Parts: sequence; C-alpha cells; structure tokens
Amino acid sequence: MRGAAGTDELLDDGTLQVAFIGRSNVGKSTLINSLTGEKGLARTSDTPGLTQEINIYSINRNAVYMLDLPGYGYAKAPRAVRERLQKLIYWYLFDSPYHQKKIILIIDANVGPSKDDLQMLQGLKEHHKNIVIIANKIDKIKKSDYEERLTELTNMIGSVVGDQKIIPYSSEKKIGIAELTKEILE
Ligand code: GTP
Ligand code: MG
Repeated sequence: MRGAAGTDELLDDGTLQVAFIGRSNVGKSTLINSLTGEKGLARTSDTPGLTQEINIYSINRNAVYMLDLPGYGYAKAPRAVRERLQKLIYWYLFDSPYHQKKIILIIDANVGPSKDDLQMLQGLKEHHKNIVIIANKIDKIKKSDYEERLTELTNMIGSVVGDQKIIPYSSEKKIGIAELTKEILE
C-alpha cells in the first residue's frame, strides 16, 4: 500500500501486523512474494540494501498487513544510512506504539545467524515478542551438509532463546510456504 518511515495512519487502523525482518539480502522481500503468490508484490534485488523503509502490504483485503522491513547489517552502506535504518527497525519493533501479531525473523541457513541476527534475537526475547524463525535459502545447502547446518543453526538460536521452532524455507524451491502460512494465521 505504501512505505512508512515512522508513525503512519495505516498502521493505526487496527489491522493485524506481521513483520518480516533479517539481514540485508537474506531474502525478505522475495519471501513475501513466495508466501503470497504475488511475484511482483515486494521489490527484490541482488543488491543488498534495497528496502529502505517499512513497506506495508495489505493481504486479503486488510485481513493482515505484511510489513517488509529494511535489512540490517549491510556493511557497505554509508554509515549514516545504516544508522538511520537500524533506528527505524528498532523503533518500529521496540519503541513504537505498534503491536505485531508475529515477527518473522529470517536467517540465511547457509551463513548461519550473524552477530546482528543474534543481537536482534536477544532484543525480541527481552521484549517478549511472538516470533517465527526462518532458515532461508535452504536450496543453496548441499544435501550432505543439510542435517549438520540445521542442527548448528538450531543450537545457536537455542542458546539465545531456548527451545524455538525453526522453519526451513526456500522461495526458489517453494519449500516451507504451507508451514509458515499456518504459523502466521494461528
Ligand atoms: P534488502 O531489501 O536489501 O534487505 O534484501 P531482502 O532481504 O529483501 O532480499 P531480496 O528478497 O531482495 O533477495 C536478495 C537476493 O536473494 C535476490 O538475489 C534473490 O533472488 C535471492 N533469494 C531470495 N530468496 C531466495 C531463495 O530461497 N533461494 C535462493 N537461492 N536465493 C534467494
Ligand atoms: Mg527487501
């Protein structure tokens, strides 16, 4: 519907909010497209740092808003840009008047949780947020490495938030869509 860089009357209209967060280039926008089956809904790019505001998508006639947040931790972005985005993300999640039905934290299953991911996870835990964790781009993991990679990821996440469900996902191979949809609607 539009992009927001702060409080916005759309966000005040009582529609449930589901937020998608994660490192820059982890595949947030692509995931929203695969989840909704609307290929051209959220803009995606090979270049990290594309999404620079909170893009609000109305799903099923305002049954829910999906919020595509800017990615964090893109080292090559100018410092001022990085700080502005970081502020916006943290403000929306932790200091704004808004409540999220669910926050979908997307982690690259190949790279594992970055320092920024673990810091975000800690913040979400401290604020008692209702989270779903996505192990994304699993199509890129070699089959022989899959079990080990997922166990490693589960353990690292577990050391911060304890027992927590992780959904393996691939927008490319359309894996995990039904499971994530269920989590969001629940
Ligand atoms: P920012 O807006 O910069 O924070 O990035 P983003 O997290 O929204 O990432 P985006 O969806 O734009 O995708 C980044 C890159 O990852 C693109 O080149 C996508 O094609 C690729 N990508 C996204 N999902 C998948 C996936 O499931 N598998 C693979 N192999 N690549 C993916
Ligand atoms: Mg994006």
